[in-house]
Amino acid sequence: MTVGTGEVPWLPFLRAVIPPDITTVLEPVFASGYVGAGRRVREFEHALEAYLGAPQVLCTSSCTAALTLAYVQLGVRPGDVVLSTPITCAATNVPLIHLGATIVWIDVDAGAGNVTPATLDAAFRAWPHARAAVVVDWAGTPCDYAGLDTVARAHGAHVVLDAAQSFGSTSRGSLLPSVGDFICYSFGPTKMLSSVEGGAVISRDAGAAEAIEAARWYGVERDARSPLEFWDYDIVNPGYRFITNDVFATVGVYMLQRLASRLATHRELAALYRGELERVPGLDIAAVPSDVDPNYWMFTVTAERRSDLLRKLHGAGIHAATPHNRNDRLSCFRHLPAQDLPGATRFADTYLCLPIGPWVRLEDCARVCATIRSGW
Ligand SMILES: Cc1ncc(COP(=O)(O)O)c(C=O)c1O
Repeated sequence: MTVGTGEVPWLPFLRAVIPPDITTVLEPVFASGYVGAGRRVREFEHALEAYLGAPQVLCTSSCTAALTLAYVQLGVRPGDVVLSTPITCAATNVPLIHLGATIVWIDVDAGAGNVTPATLDAAFRAWPHARAAVVVDWAGTPCDYAGLDTVARAHGAHVVLDAAQSFGSTSRGSLLPSVGDFICYSFGPTKMLSSVEGGAVISRDAGAAEAIEAARWYGVERDARSPLEFWDYDIVNPGYRFITNDVFATVGVYMLQRLASRLATHRELAALYRGELERVPGLDIAAVPSDVDPNYWMFTVTAERRSDLLRKLHGAGIHAATPHNRNDRLSCFRHLPAQDLPGATRFADTYLCLPIGPWVRLEDCARVCATIRSGW
């Protein structure tokens, strides 16, 4: 791919990475005559449960769908206050608007973009009747799960973890996050684990999981139907069409088998970036706590005169990016109570993410570092 004049090779920031031989595993699915949500979805769920060490994983059509199901299950209703981070994809917060919630923004760490135990505690103290809090693992770096969990328990509050970006990251050695009544993942096109499109929700409460299982398919309790009469069903609580399908699930199983190699690539490139950029004046690498091992889905730095640096990188054909505008500045959220968010402001004004992924060769990574080190 090229940019501008076409003379400069373009190093993409994100791209889909699904090997062409995926067609061989998809052929039998298409030939089977069944491509909806069937046994292959269950296979994907069982593979995810085994990988994460989770009791039950429910696959959905997207992370946005998974988040919606979690919010509905928490009973979010019009007028409820829900605390949430502005440093995220709008998908974290848009479903809350549909449910009529009043979002109150939580501040984040100015260097890394994550909600911290201190900022969560401050938000709960200011809004003690908040129904729940939503936190996000920015760029794939796990939040301080233990600290957030302690704060949430102290306030008797529910937490939703939007782990869309952090599949495969570990915290204190565990792949399964230790915070969140609900944990939501994205398997979207460019995610660390992609099933083309898709997501998943994990509930720590078996009853809530059962309700979500029905809610993701119109509200029908699919497994309760007679095996002989597919159409004989009742709906008590109306749900959604939020389930994934056998085609995406087949891709998901295939990609999960290749995840270790992708994670290793991201971690190798991150180590190279870290080594080369550690002491560059005007640039800071987002801090990573010693007890976490991020997946490095994105590699985040903060920089003085960010737009100058972005211009320089783009001029060299390097797509460094600022994915996701801070949500509190988006028009659809402007009616919400204004908050003083010094950490979010500092982060949003200075962060940028560097290209990282299997399409970035070690020499590409070295070129990005050399371009940055030469100044901007
Ligand atoms: C933090 C976060 N939450 C939610 C989403 C939405 O995921 P999906 O596209 O699977 O709905 C994304 C997608 O980029 C994301 O980064």
